[in-house]
Amino acid sequence: MRIRTAGFCAIAVAAAASANAQAPSTVSPAQAVLARQAAMGMSGGILTYLSKAADAGVEVKTLGYEAYTLDAWAKALPSLFPTGTAAADVKVRNRSKPEIWSDPSGFAAAANAFADSTARLRDIAKQNDAGAFKAQVKDIENRCNACHAAYRSGPA
Ligand code: HEC
Repeated sequence: MRIRTAGFCAIAVAAAASANAQAPSTVSPAQAVLARQAAMGMSGGILTYLSKAADAGVEVKTLGYEAYTLDAWAKALPSLFPTGTAAADVKVRNRSKPEIWSDPSGFAAAANAFADSTARLRDIAKQNDAGAFKAQVKDIENRCNACHAAYRSGPA
């Protein structure tokens, strides 16, 4: 875990250094779609890991870093759905429903409910409460599914 964390820091420092050396860049609509899909997939991996670890009896206070990364993604999620990244706007595979942009307050509410739930998981990890942790992982899963039902097209 420590090694992985150090790796992330090194990448962040390198990215910051190269960002300083070059002109400001913008993320293209297709890149935003690919980035959000990748992050969604990783968030599923983290959630499955947290569920399995808690079921296996791992002390949940040791899962704080993973809970933090999920919460960080929840806070960043809305920024990766800018105008111009709907399925009709980009050529890459894209399962976003138009309602994300026609019903922005509904989408924001779904994202906020998700972020509230991930913040709660971080608190519970600190408290080392295994039962509450497992229940909160389920609550997060429900938030994922609720948003998908309303705002993601195709199979659940
Ligand atoms: C606020 C809404 C919202 C929340 C919360 C949300 N998602 Fe998503 N998710 C979407 C949308 C919209 C797409 C389709 C994005 C696209 O194709 O551009 C998506 C796509 C995905 C995909 C497919 C990625 C791909 O490669 O096509 C996975 C997997 C996924 N989400 C998992 C999750 C998991 C796991 C959670 C909870 C930990 C979650 N999502 C929470 C809206 C949400």
